[in-house]
Amino acid sequence: MLTCSHLSRRFEDASGEIWPVQDVSLTVKDGTFLSVVGRSGSGKSTLLKMLGGLLMPTEGEVRIGEASLYEMTEDERSDYRCKTIGFVFQDFFLEELYTVYQNLEIVMMIAKVSDAERKGKIEQALEQVGMLHKKDTKVKVLSGGEKQRVCIARAIVNEPQILFADEPCGNLDYENGQAIMRLLREQCEQGKTVILITHNREDAMATDRIVTLQDGRIESDEDQRHS
Ligand SMILES: Nc1ncnc2c1ncn2[C@@H]1O[C@H](COP(=O)(O)OP(=O)(O)O)[C@@H](O)[C@H]1O
Ligand SMILES: [Mg+2]
Repeated sequence: MLTCSHLSRRFEDASGEIWPVQDVSLTVKDGTFLSVVGRSGSGKSTLLKMLGGLLMPTEGEVRIGEASLYEMTEDERSDYRCKTIGFVFQDFFLEELYTVYQNLEIVMMIAKVSDAERKGKIEQALEQVGMLHKKDTKVKVLSGGEKQRVCIARAIVNEPQILFADEPCGNLDYENGQAIMRLLREQCEQGKTVILITHNREDAMATDRIVTLQDGRIESDEDQRHS
């Protein structure tokens, strides 16, 4: 179970302070495919970063099961994050000059997975996204769709409980976007919670639950499985 209660975040800039996320409370059951939608600037990415342990809330808390993410020290939290949470971003953030295999190896080294265990897990993750045949290829020569599949493999290689994806299909054409949506759905079917930010109505409709943000607040929260 992922829960957040009364989550808010303030930023200050030259023109004053803004609160891109205000008093957001959510409970997400394990194995749910949840999408977050809303206009640009409505606070989606800020919310996702707080839920994923990447950004300290100004107010409120985030819990994954028993663990309270922001009651941990920063070291504890980054340790917890790399074992429990996977991230997929629109802009990939892959090491372009490294091979596909090496990109996955990096996150396993960060999670302190032993040499002996790495190879099997990396190959298994690449197999799941259909990229095992490109494991020794440098990322820079891959297409966008292939890069995003590598990102998903990297996000799942440490077998996290929760996957966060911030507009993963935003830079892809329709076919490749659909392939990414299928992979995310498969992760859910294996019991992971998947939280997806999307601008695409059709992609949101394919998820179990749609949370709509407006000006940093939850405007609606629709359970798709009952409608
Ligand atoms: N680090 C930051 N400093 C100042 N303002 C920020 C920062 N991050 C986001 N914002 C502002 O918060 C608002 C919401 O941003 P964001 O969460 O990225 O929205 P969305 O993902 O829905 O487009 C925007 O007005 C954005 O400019
Ligand atoms: Mg965003």
